[in-house]
Amino acid sequence: PSANFTIDPRSGAGVINRRLFGSFVEHLGRCVYDGIYEPSHPTADIDGFREDVKDLVRELGVSAIRYPGGNFVSGYRWEDGVGPRENRPTRLDLAWHSTETNEVGIDEFARWTTSVGSELMYAVNLGTRGVLDALDVLEYANIRSGSAFADARIANGTHEPHNVRMWCLGNEMDGPWQLGHSTAEDYGKLAAQTAKAMRQVDPDLELVVCGSSSAQMPTFISWERTVLEHTYDDVDYISCHAYYEEKDGDLASFLASGVNMDRFIETVIATADYVKAAKGSSKTMNISFDEWNVWYIERYHQIDKITEVDDWPVAPRLLEDCYSVADAVVFGSLLISLLKHAERVTSASLAQLVNVIAPIMTEPNGEAWRQTIFYPFALTSRLARGEALNVRLNSDSYDTVQYGTVNVVDAVATHDAENGATAVFIVNRSPDAVTTVTIDVSSLGDVVIVESHIISDDDVYAANTLDQPYRVTPKPVSSAVLVDGTLTIELPAVSWTAIALR
Ligand code: AHR
Repeated sequence: PSANFTIDPRSGAGVINRRLFGSFVEHLGRCVYDGIYEPSHPTADIDGFREDVKDLVRELGVSAIRYPGGNFVSGYRWEDGVGPRENRPTRLDLAWHSTETNEVGIDEFARWTTSVGSELMYAVNLGTRGVLDALDVLEYANIRSGSAFADARIANGTHEPHNVRMWCLGNEMDGPWQLGHSTAEDYGKLAAQTAKAMRQVDPDLELVVCGSSSAQMPTFISWERTVLEHTYDDVDYISCHAYYEEKDGDLASFLASGVNMDRFIETVIATADYVKAAKGSSKTMNISFDEWNVWYIERYHQIDKITEVDDWPVAPRLLEDCYSVADAVVFGSLLISLLKHAERVTSASLAQLVNVIAPIMTEPNGEAWRQTIFYPFALTSRLARGEALNVRLNSDSYDTVQYGTVNVVDAVATHDAENGATAVFIVNRSPDAVTTVTIDVSSLGDVVIVESHIISDDDVYAANTLDQPYRVTPKPVSSAVLVDGTLTIELPAVSWTAIALR
């Protein structure tokens, strides 16, 4: 097969918001405890956070980090996690059938996000709590001094307010598994009341209302419409969540997951724009794609899930998926999908960050290492700057059971007008064929390839493990040739490629 496209800096399709490269830390399994936080680890800092993990988070290049959940947040009492650690209560976490020690709370986590150069994006509990608790945690986090919660934060040792700008109004409230699961009507009203109240504290907060927990939910679209009808004037983003996995050995469909993500985003945009038109509003609703990844959910339900009534472990090994080359290729294609929609997807969170469906893995008292999915994220976050470009792709196609006939190649380019840096990201979804890609780069002028990286392997299920942490790493693209304004590349089957030009 073959594909061709054009990189033209004049075909801008949206400025890339740095928040597109966000991530997500939930109190779940070993994401916080034995993940980012392990006070007995040789590299632990004064708060108990691992420096080796922080180094990898910085290398990954994550912007805003959503916290503390996820399903966890719908049973969470934020005040349990502040004040002297010895006084913090131990609680049951019903979402993950675990014990929450509350050793880490908003103050420690905010310090940690600052130390890794990220921004804190905080989710309030609208499952088992409501307007007043959202106001309380907002006051604790953002008010300088002179009120009970602000002064409590100061007394707890944090003098400067955390100044959290982005707030999620609950989590996946459409999901029957969610504590406090709600109808779109009820949730829409509660979210609107909460948003209005929070804006009485600070009108400039950026608020994210819950969209559907997946495009497969029976209420998908009607949920978005109803929730936005209630909240359109009061929020800035609607959330999308999507997880992909290879099912029943159908690699061809799995490799085309980006097709599903494209449709999902475009459907939510269409629904938001319908509400905008129906309301006669001049405001445009953006998307916060605040949970996305490859996740082998079946494995969680069949193997990991804790069901014994008396079993409430602290930091159990949950959702510790080991990612292959094929997973990294799909993951890279999801980043391409997000970038193609950069104009409307102005925030996104890779779910999650450490140990739990994560790019970074750790062993207690041991090493931290990079999973295969680490590489496409780190490279895209570093190279995709400025504007996303519409590349006007022509591609041969292949057949999939799940999505019908789809393009074998998908691609996006980015261009930073300030320094002339251009990058292109390409996926070859074919399960078995090399694809020749020809790219017209003549409008960029006299450019050369400054770096190139490809993820591919003869064994598409090869993975990085504690014993072989460097089994899969990106390699330079030996087939890339740039002559007379034409870049030609031979892409192996199941591969993801990033090339920087200048
Ligand atoms: O990321 C894991 C879980 O997936 C989150 O807790 C929840 O929001 C989603 O269903």
